[in-house]
Amino acid sequence: MTVAFFPSPVRFVFLPDQSPHSLLPEESILLSANASPKRRAQFSLGRTAARAALEQLGFAEPPPVLRGGHGEPLWPAAVVGSLSHCPSGAAAAVARRGEVPGLGLDIERLDRELAPATAERFCNSDELAWVRQHDAVRRALLVFSAKESIYKALFPRYRQFFGFDAVSLTADEPRTRFIATLRIDIDREFLSGTTFTVGFADIDAAHLLTWTVLERG
Ligand SMILES: CC(C)(COP(=O)(O)OP(=O)(O)OC[C@H]1O[C@@H](n2cnc3c(N)ncnc32)[C@H](O)[C@@H]1OP(=O)(O)O)[C@@H](O)C(=O)NCCC(=O)NCCS
Repeated sequence: MTVAFFPSPVRFVFLPDQSPHSLLPEESILLSANASPKRRAQFSLGRTAARAALEQLGFAEPPPVLRGGHGEPLWPAAVVGSLSHCPSGAAAAVARRGEVPGLGLDIERLDRELAPATAERFCNSDELAWVRQHDAVRRALLVFSAKESIYKALFPRYRQFFGFDAVSLTADEPRTRFIATLRIDIDREFLSGTTFTVGFADIDAAHLLTWTVLERG
């Protein structure tokens, strides 16, 4: 599925859990022998979505999507991308590095209810006020998911863990997006104070998608 709300260089694939999926041998050995059937199926669906997105980008025979030392997916050298799974589906997005400096995405089931108290772990005080103002369950999920997508977009540049306070979000609701402001220096191009947008939309009746597509400064 190529969704209009992604900018055109990005190829996006969402696979519901009934979709056929498989692993290439090089991907299969990344899974621990103790991986549960659920983890195995999600991993396989995610890799299948990732290779389908690479195919849409022009890779006639997409290579295996391996894994870096911090859990990040390893894409072909000229590609940036991200993947996500939830109990009922998986999604991946990729783009040419020359066109997009980085991207991240996250999917969540819309019926996932984060415990109200947990919002304090990933929201700053302004975000918390926005969450509590209206439709708190959905808004908490939006902030959480948006920050996961930001992490996935920026990690390949920063190469270190950073927490939920590294970015602050302001909702730009008519346009169903957040304006994100960095609170740490990621690299020379993405310094503290840099702003970028994080989109959000329901993919279908059951799944929320958030995405971060970085732009050159
Ligand atoms: C790594 C993390 C983002 C994964 O997100 P999740 O919601 O648990 O799970 P998802 O299914 O959406 O995503 C999992 C995929 O993320 C990708 N991923 C894992 N680590 C990653 C990293 N360091 N960088 C980029 N992508 C990563 C992988 O492809 C993984 O799937 P796979 O194991 O099948 O390959 C999350 O567990 C985490 O550590 N978050 C804390 C850091 C954070 O969000 N900080 C907030 C910054 S504002």
